[in-house]
Amino acid sequence: MILAAIGLMAAGCGDGGANSDPAGTTGKKQFEIGFSQCTVTEPWRVLFNDKLRTAAAAHPEVKLTILNANDRTEEQVAQMKTFIRRKVDAILISPKESAGLTRVVKEATKAGIPVVVLDRDVHWDGYAAFVGGDNMEIGRAAGRHAVKVLGGAGKARGIIYEICGGLASTPAQQRRDGFHEVVGKESDIQIHGGLDGDWKKDKAHNILQDALKTLNHIDIVYAHNDPMAHGAFLAARAAGREKEIKFFGIDGIPDEGCTWVKKGDLTATFLYPTPGEKGLELALKILKGEKLEMRRITLETATVTGENVDRFLK
Ligand code: FRU
Repeated sequence: MILAAIGLMAAGCGDGGANSDPAGTTGKKQFEIGFSQCTVTEPWRVLFNDKLRTAAAAHPEVKLTILNANDRTEEQVAQMKTFIRRKVDAILISPKESAGLTRVVKEATKAGIPVVVLDRDVHWDGYAAFVGGDNMEIGRAAGRHAVKVLGGAGKARGIIYEICGGLASTPAQQRRDGFHEVVGKESDIQIHGGLDGDWKKDKAHNILQDALKTLNHIDIVYAHNDPMAHGAFLAARAAGREKEIKFFGIDGIPDEGCTWVKKGDLTATFLYPTPGEKGLELALKILKGEKLEMRRITLETATVTGENVDRFLK
């Protein structure tokens, strides 16, 4: 709570809180928008914040405050409550997990603050808008690619080891479900693992290190994000088994997933665009009283392999 308050002050918000510049120095209405970001551990989140900041800088009427919840649900709830107390004009949130953040998203909405939920969803749909990737489809695309690599539909055979993201979050559940929907049709493919790696590279490293002790062969490691896929790759390399396994990740940012595909450390990654700019656009439309054409926006994905990676490295 204290940290959240300091974060707000550090971002330069005046004591007047929201709309403290009603006619203001600019003569235009100012909008105070608070963003609670669940973590900045993964480079994908840093890129997400950077792009959002750049988008906000193009709007002089927006005062954006970004807070980092350090992967802690309680901290994120406290940040949301601070935003509600300060009566910010709109809130963006990318939740750590669904269940623990649902109530406070409701609370903000009931307090009359439009909330735009980004990337990970909560268990309630009454907020203003959602922007995120199609994680079921990403899971299916990864499944189709796995089937192809293992010999094609109806003939595929092999052993897959899955490392899940935080299973209390919707992207991990959907990336798992979409993948199983496709791969589950192949009777000669076995899927092992399924442990929760909480999106973290070091956790995935340790999970695969243990798995290598019990499984004497693995064809594919399917990890729910690129940091975990690369952590698993490093564990396999340390065990001298990286050539035996093809590593699949998700996110496809240039400095991580795409670079690793280019190097051959990963066989494939699936693009997961950051949702910040679109989220800000929707929040501004709402604040300016414009009607949203769609209140759920799905961002596109793509399969990135050695064949097309150059396009995504730019
Ligand atoms: C970053 C991250 C991404 C992933 C997304 C899912 O924290 O783990 O790597 O795609 O969150 O919500």
